[in-house]
Amino acid sequence: MTFTPKTFRIKSFGCQMNVYDGERISELLTEQGLAASIDGEDSDLVVLNTCHIREKAAEKAYSDIGRLKREDGSRPMIALAGCVAQAEGAEAMNRSPMIDLVVGPQAYHRLPEMLARASRGAHPVDTDMPAISKFDALPKRRRANPSAFLSVQEGCDKFCTYCVVPYTRGAEISRPQADIVAEAQALVEAGAREIVLLGQNVNAWKHDELGLADLIRAIATIDGLERIRYTTSHPADMTDALIAAHGEVEKLMPYLHLPVQSGSNRILKAMNRSHGTESYLRTIEKARAARADIAISGDFIVGFPGETEEDFEATLNIVDAVRYASAYSFKYSARPGTPAAAMEDQVPIEVMDDRLQRLHARIAGHQLAFNRSTAGRQTKVLLERRGRLPGQMIGRSPWLQSVHVETDAGPGTMLDVTLTQAGPNSMTGATRQEQAA
Ligand code: 5AD
Ligand code: SF4
Repeated sequence: MTFTPKTFRIKSFGCQMNVYDGERISELLTEQGLAASIDGEDSDLVVLNTCHIREKAAEKAYSDIGRLKREDGSRPMIALAGCVAQAEGAEAMNRSPMIDLVVGPQAYHRLPEMLARASRGAHPVDTDMPAISKFDALPKRRRANPSAFLSVQEGCDKFCTYCVVPYTRGAEISRPQADIVAEAQALVEAGAREIVLLGQNVNAWKHDELGLADLIRAIATIDGLERIRYTTSHPADMTDALIAAHGEVEKLMPYLHLPVQSGSNRILKAMNRSHGTESYLRTIEKARAARADIAISGDFIVGFPGETEEDFEATLNIVDAVRYASAYSFKYSARPGTPAAAMEDQVPIEVMDDRLQRLHARIAGHQLAFNRSTAGRQTKVLLERRGRLPGQMIGRSPWLQSVHVETDAGPGTMLDVTLTQAGPNSMTGATRQEQAA
């Protein structure tokens, strides 16, 4: 391929970290003079920011590439980024010759130079995981959504036996506090009212003896910033200091995403989770003691190798014990190179399908109960985007529920709302003026 792209489009899959990386890549390309193409429009360059966490997600990258061929047989320049790029490296180009360059999640600050080489017909691959921070090489934040992501920690040293993240995102690295505070400040100046601190193991963040609770307190001093959230946390790194912050830092939202994965101690051990169900439940209890209304969310895997009906029932039991406000559940997916992929007793797909359905139903019941428990409350909603109906806006409650509300106010407004109606997946709210009328 020998041409210089002038327009680009980024497609991000997977976790919020990828969304964040996608935003930073977009800023970098814009600074290089490329223009983002509008939705649905053709573009000279397509960056596929891929996810490798489950087989389905990884396969999606390749099926998407196939679809980029235009009717006249031509195609855009294609950059494979994200975790599939990291996991497969140059091999990706053998699987799909349409790929022009491969760039891993720790190397995308070098994208401009790679694009220049690809424009001359080369096929550059960069999956280095340098110790030097890519963040230093990225442009300053100038645009921000009302709720903005901020990556503070990357990688994982936990090595759960099912998970590819330690291989695709590398060892745990924390960004320095001063850099994070500076980026948070820039995001607030660019319009963010809420900041979501991101990390594969965000509560393992540490720098110069400081932990995540200290970082949250530092960010909370930024004027104009109203809300702070963080995700995803590991139960083993849930310190008392962080739990205490939930009771003391007003800007820290009453929401905790704390994946347990399974309710069976036998399976947790096989997963190498380094926590059991008792310690997990104790942590939840402490969090609720610090902040009574805290919404708990989690992740579950069904059908881990060797999972029996009894193990699965223990998972249903922990869902009841915690009363999750929301939770994500996934069928186990064997990932190449992980220890669990080589374990015996892989669970048949029909069994996984059945368990996933039952787990979904159990979680949905608790989610609806949680939503109902918040009906009638007066609270603040951060408006994020327009709804489908005219005059309707969608925002988030402190408990991260989607709230639909009729108002003239625009995105970024912190609106006083009464939650009037609870649905399975969202709430309806009414502005105070509307109520008074
Ligand atoms: N199979 C299924 N689900 C997985 N997750 C991570 N690895 C796998 C896998 N191999 C889930 C976990 C994790 C979430 C991000 O994805 O529940 O918390
Ligand atoms: Fe996907 Fe995990 Fe990589 Fe995020 S970190 S992009 S979820 S594989």
